[in-house]
Amino acid sequence: MPLVESSPDGATVVLHTRTGSYAVRLDHAAGAVRPLHWGEPITVAAAAELPLWQPPYDMAFEGPYDGSEDFPFDGGRRFGPRALGIRYADGTGGLDLTITGHHLGPDTLVVDLADRAGPVAVHLHYRVAADTDVIERWSAVRHTGTDQPLELTDHAAAVWCLPPRDDYRLSHVTGGWCREGRLHRTAVPVAETTLTSRRGMTSHSANPWVMIDDGTTEEENGEVFSAALAFSGSWRVTVLRTHDGPCSLLGAAGHDRVTTPLPPGTTVTSPVFAAQRTTGGFGAASRAWHDYQRRRILPHPDEDRPVLYNSWEATEFDVSETGQRRLAELAARLGAELFVVDDGWFGARTNDRAGLGDWFPNPARFPDGLRPLADHVRSLGMRFGLWVEPEMVNPDSDLYRAHPDWVLHLPTLPATEGRNQLVLDYTRADVREWALSWLDDLVRSCDLAFLKWDCNRPFTEARPQSWIGHALGVYEVLDRLRERHPRLRIEACSSGGGRVDLGALARTDQVWTSDNTDAVDRLSIQHGYGQLYAPETMVAWVTDSPNPLTGREVPLEFRFHVAMSGVLGIGGDLATWSDADLATAAGLVGQYKSIRPVIQHGDLYRLTGPEATVTASAYVAGGAAAVFVWRVPGGPAETITLPLPGLDPGAVYRDATGRQFHGAGLRSTGLPVTLAAGPMVSALVTLERA
Ligand code: DGJ
Repeated sequence: MPLVESSPDGATVVLHTRTGSYAVRLDHAAGAVRPLHWGEPITVAAAAELPLWQPPYDMAFEGPYDGSEDFPFDGGRRFGPRALGIRYADGTGGLDLTITGHHLGPDTLVVDLADRAGPVAVHLHYRVAADTDVIERWSAVRHTGTDQPLELTDHAAAVWCLPPRDDYRLSHVTGGWCREGRLHRTAVPVAETTLTSRRGMTSHSANPWVMIDDGTTEEENGEVFSAALAFSGSWRVTVLRTHDGPCSLLGAAGHDRVTTPLPPGTTVTSPVFAAQRTTGGFGAASRAWHDYQRRRILPHPDEDRPVLYNSWEATEFDVSETGQRRLAELAARLGAELFVVDDGWFGARTNDRAGLGDWFPNPARFPDGLRPLADHVRSLGMRFGLWVEPEMVNPDSDLYRAHPDWVLHLPTLPATEGRNQLVLDYTRADVREWALSWLDDLVRSCDLAFLKWDCNRPFTEARPQSWIGHALGVYEVLDRLRERHPRLRIEACSSGGGRVDLGALARTDQVWTSDNTDAVDRLSIQHGYGQLYAPETMVAWVTDSPNPLTGREVPLEFRFHVAMSGVLGIGGDLATWSDADLATAAGLVGQYKSIRPVIQHGDLYRLTGPEATVTASAYVAGGAAAVFVWRVPGGPAETITLPLPGLDPGAVYRDATGRQFHGAGLRSTGLPVTLAAGPMVSALVTLERA
């Protein structure tokens, strides 16, 4: 069956995903694409007979299409959030769009619209992500005239209209620095609910995805509609629920105040606002997003992410070649495969007040440059990587002294500093060329395998184009750098998890999840992260106890089990670890490597969440499974039994001690897991098909 098909009259188009269909009507009277069906598979003949949604009363006070248009524009009786609005130089605006054509490809639908009143053409793009439940949508707006400058006051990627349900519930995450990913599940009010970042970057405070259910969905049971915006600048996602109508989701680059100039002859294209309908609960929705990232987003989905060591928590700015060599030797003893020198290796960067922007090795710390350290790390059998922060500059730096005009600033206002730094203007071609040039040299000269690309403050005093354009500039530099260095792997970071989104993940390999490395806090941070993002992108370090940030003492094994449930890293000051701890750590690193493919490429089942006394997750791939169990509060030694969905009911599984279990029994009755007495105890059970 083709992925996209239309009725003989061309008015009805159906897009088929892995498990369902999305059908639209090209409503020429409304000048709009209007949703007909988003659910079980449907034939185009059946879809062609479906009626369009109508409001209960045809009153002048109501918008006849509000909540039932794929791209509502500023024109006519439309009173909801707009996907498109324009303003001419004289301050007037308004659109009268009409459908001028449509084109079907093997997996795509493009609908063309034009404004009867002015020089605006719109192209609505739909693309089925084959073998997934996801449909990708974006929009392009073109100024078709030769004069009359105009700007876009609103420009969304898409609006997804949900089918009518008795109720709607919203799942999303909020947070802050060191407390990312807090999951909320709350009834959708009859209102416009906007999740947004006005920071110029994705942000810790909200993340650009939503999941909507009817209030009855459970972890492994029920329908979920979800959508995610692939963008790393300012953004907004508005959930509209009207008194009478269904619920809809608008996703856009740029926050509410952001306008985009559209000079004659130019086109502005939005990022992708992807969405899927899944059944099988929130767990299935998350697994479907992980699967989508593996098939369509991640540049190297099949690679095992290496066990890394990062020196930040061990040394902070107190970086020296001798100290790094010592840490590298200890990290290699533990089995680390990648050694990353964090902040403090360059310029006059001995604290966060100076040197950012001066990307040459600090001559006092690395008198012969970085190559000797890099070669030493490689001689220990590890790859070598470096931290960089290419979008920022300390005012106390040679770069800023040479190019004070390169930073975001407005002529009448003082430039606000954050962490003693200013933001370089990546909408400028000269800034992008500068960044690409030194990054290219650095990667080449040290034969770098890895960059941790950090970004440690939000924007202030930005010009209108920066809120969206900066992120596009960063994408350009990342894309060109990766093209020049195909073996380079990149970790996205923004003071922890401030830049986690599908746009960043399309250009990087993993994400530094949070600056909070307290394993107990991490349970909820990682729980929120995994709702949308795949485990092989979630970097987690084992650090020292007591934790330097929170002061909490956490047993080594618990710390490891939390970090082993993502991309395992080590970030403690290994020089202070006892021989016994180093030996235990080496054993756990070895165990991680043996189950890494299951964790990094498997299906994640959240057995219980961090709000429960016992938190547990299972990873399942092929004939193997890894089950993590953590109990934070103190308790007696106990054996708990955890039903394991996702296993083959007909198979027999064996754990590391040789105990055998039938898959059917593991699914229904569950896996017995014994926890020791005390607080912060954990267990890891591995299962293999016998
Ligand atoms: C913020 C990051 O999240 C940390 O891991 C570390 O790289 C610091 N920046 C360095 O300044």
